Amino acid sequence: MNAINRLAAVVSLASLLPLSALAAEPGTVEVTHWWTSGGEKAAVDTLRKQIEQDGFVWKDNAVAGGGGAAAMTVLKSRAVAGNPPAAAQVKGPDIQDWGALGLLTNLDDVAKANDWDALLPRKVADIMKYDGHYVAVPVNIHRVNWLWINPQVFAKAGAKVPTTLDELFAAADKLKAAGFVPLAHGGQPWQDSTVFEGVVLSILGPKGYHAAFVELDEKTLTGAQMIKAFSTLQRLGTYMDPNRAGRDWNVAAAEVINGKAGMQIMGDWAKSEWTAAGKIAGKDYECVAFPGTQGSFAYNIDSLVMFRLKDENDIKAQNDLAKVALEPAFQTVFNQNKGSLPVRQDMDMGPFDACTQKSAADFKAAEQGDGLQPSMAHNMATSLAVQGAIFDVVTNFLNDPKADPAKAVKQLDSAIKSAK
Ligand code: BGC
Repeated sequence: MNAINRLAAVVSLASLLPLSALAAEPGTVEVTHWWTSGGEKAAVDTLRKQIEQDGFVWKDNAVAGGGGAAAMTVLKSRAVAGNPPAAAQVKGPDIQDWGALGLLTNLDDVAKANDWDALLPRKVADIMKYDGHYVAVPVNIHRVNWLWINPQVFAKAGAKVPTTLDELFAAADKLKAAGFVPLAHGGQPWQDSTVFEGVVLSILGPKGYHAAFVELDEKTLTGAQMIKAFSTLQRLGTYMDPNRAGRDWNVAAAEVINGKAGMQIMGDWAKSEWTAAGKIAGKDYECVAFPGTQGSFAYNIDSLVMFRLKDENDIKAQNDLAKVALEPAFQTVFNQNKGSLPVRQDMDMGPFDACTQKSAADFKAAEQGDGLQPSMAHNMATSLAVQGAIFDVVTNFLNDPKADPAKAVKQLDSAIKSAK
């Protein structure tokens, strides 16, 4: 075959191949996140599968550690090294700090094409924007102020589902007397503060909670009700397993699922563990608002910020991720696995279980007044520096059974002042 004929053969062969086979390598989207428990992994797998079905490559950068502190450390060092992933689980006010670094990409085209402004509650959309432009996509709405209950354990102990703090202590006493761990808990700063914020919401109410954790108001932080919140936390500590140090939240959840413990104070990602264990809401377990916070909804919105990329195919993969995240089919299956509410407001809630339907109704009710409050323990209320200061004070306090609540409030106020 001479050169011309060889070329003609190649050209005609090429015409037989599908276009996709001639196209460049499929784009890759690398995602940094901390969804590593059994239930969380099931949820994030639904995202990975959709991206792969769309013809892109999913590169998983999962960093274990509930609450995400370890993942944030990895993300920061990668950004400093000039090698950020395509997307990362970053939430709340922290999105503004990443935006200010100039590393995030503009998602306005995807947002416009998919009508995000109409689909998302205004409050949520604003969190996802930096300088008026979308730089992140939300995937869900978690409620933090929940109490998870094993009804079989409660029945054995003769305990009643609590609706007030007094009832919570009465149930804990019954559970203790019957030989159960009353409150499953993992001794990690973010878990300690998850309990603390529930207590603050219960004792100070949503307005007081806002004054404390959003306005960082000195009078509220050091007032009598905050002292009461610390002493309540201290009392709750006496119902937790003393060997709890460092225990992961999902290990604590498993203690309630397996009937070793009666209750857990945790956000509704805890439901992902019950779901993964094949348990049914309302039958195998109960979800109730943390006692005294019935009208309130401490929200925690998971979102993925997107970093600026160079490779055109990778940008296509990144845009696909942003688009998929808000598609109804994905919102349903992801949130069924994750335990959270869909973030889209136009979703059919029929396929969701009793806990998520209750959560949706409570969200709507809380939205009408002051009940809707950003979670301090889950990065929605303050900067990470202020949150870290609160975590330190709360964890030191809970680990010292003799700590003085009146001193703790002063420490809280001064730690926050120096972190601001
Ligand atoms: C995140 C959840 C996650 C939980 C436990 C929270 O801060 O928002 O998505 O499941 O931490 O890791």
